[in-house]
Amino acid sequence: MLVIGVESFGGPEVLAVHEVPDPHPGPGQVRIRVHAAAVSPTDAVLRAGGQQLGDRRPPHVPGMDAAGTVDEVGAGSAWRAGDAVMGIALPRGEHGGAYAQLLVAPDDSIARIPENTDFATAATLPMNGLTALQALEALDLKPEQTLAVTGAAGTLGGYVIELAKHEGLTVVADADDHDLELVESFGADHVVARGDDVARRIREFFPDGVDGLVDAAVLDEKAAPAVRDGGGFATVRRWAGDPGRDITVHRINVYDEYHSGEKLDRLRRLVDDGVLTLRVAGRYPAAQAAEAHRRLEAGGVRGRLVLEL
Ligand SMILES: NC(=O)c1ccc[n+]([C@@H]2O[C@H](COP(=O)([O-])OP(=O)(O)OC[C@H]3O[C@@H](n4cnc5c(N)ncnc54)[C@H](OP(=O)(O)O)[C@@H]3O)[C@@H](O)[C@H]2O)c1
Repeated sequence: MLVIGVESFGGPEVLAVHEVPDPHPGPGQVRIRVHAAAVSPTDAVLRAGGQQLGDRRPPHVPGMDAAGTVDEVGAGSAWRAGDAVMGIALPRGEHGGAYAQLLVAPDDSIARIPENTDFATAATLPMNGLTALQALEALDLKPEQTLAVTGAAGTLGGYVIELAKHEGLTVVADADDHDLELVESFGADHVVARGDDVARRIREFFPDGVDGLVDAAVLDEKAAPAVRDGGGFATVRRWAGDPGRDITVHRINVYDEYHSGEKLDRLRRLVDDGVLTLRVAGRYPAAQAAEAHRRLEAGGVRGRLVLEL
């Protein structure tokens, strides 16, 4: 099979097509003929050499979201050849990343794709949808409590807002002027200008601070002052800081959701019910992965770029 992988770390140009042996599913696993793999910021981190890959041998294959068709089933699998599925892939795990024509996945790491949704669109959901769920579960807020979201125009931020509104939270989110309508469309109750003093602007609406914050913009200590004493702060890039004031810092890690197929199925239903909005910003033939990474790293992408394999 062909994969898009990295032999030596570097800029987007190091992404190249490689031929590797076809994988086969073991018991309780399937093999997916991947048709679409989303391109996420973490893929660029892996490509540039910013992730510990242990003793895995190159080519290193990025990609944490796959959608495609089951084409081989292992013994005892509940899935059938031909099922249209989406799932999370772990580039540092046993089966590698999603920039691959064939991906082996445990039964419980995948779910059916939403109705009336193509593979590229479905591929935008698993990793960031599960991350958004994990962050909200960690913060454990009750209806009427307040949540702040930074990086709200991004893929993760958008899912967090939509899920939080569905749970009855009051949401304040950040945006540039040109993203105002987009962030409002997710359902944010209040939108403040993004930037280093976002915490001060959030406090203009909530003088005592918000109950919880999901920091999808990775502002760390700049965002933490928005949280009330005793509140919760969800970091998605392992911020090691301590904001004090009895604030609990939740270090979110979507690798822990690899076997969360049931949650992924819940996310699917939320798409079907119109709660979650999936956004594709652009589609690229997989061989043009370098171009997709250049566009991602230039910033300003709204929605997810997707490789088609
Ligand atoms: N820990 C985990 O398991 C996990 C899982 C999923 C995601 N993540 C991380 O979560 C973060 C968000 O992911 P994503 O997929 O949503 O990325 P994304 O789609 O690129 O969204 C990030 C958003 O933040 C905005 N932003 C950048 N700098 C900002 C600033 N200083 N103030 C306010 N907004 C700013 C970006 O705007 P511009 O485009 O204008 O820069 C963009 O709209 C990434 O760092 C990702 O690696 C972690």
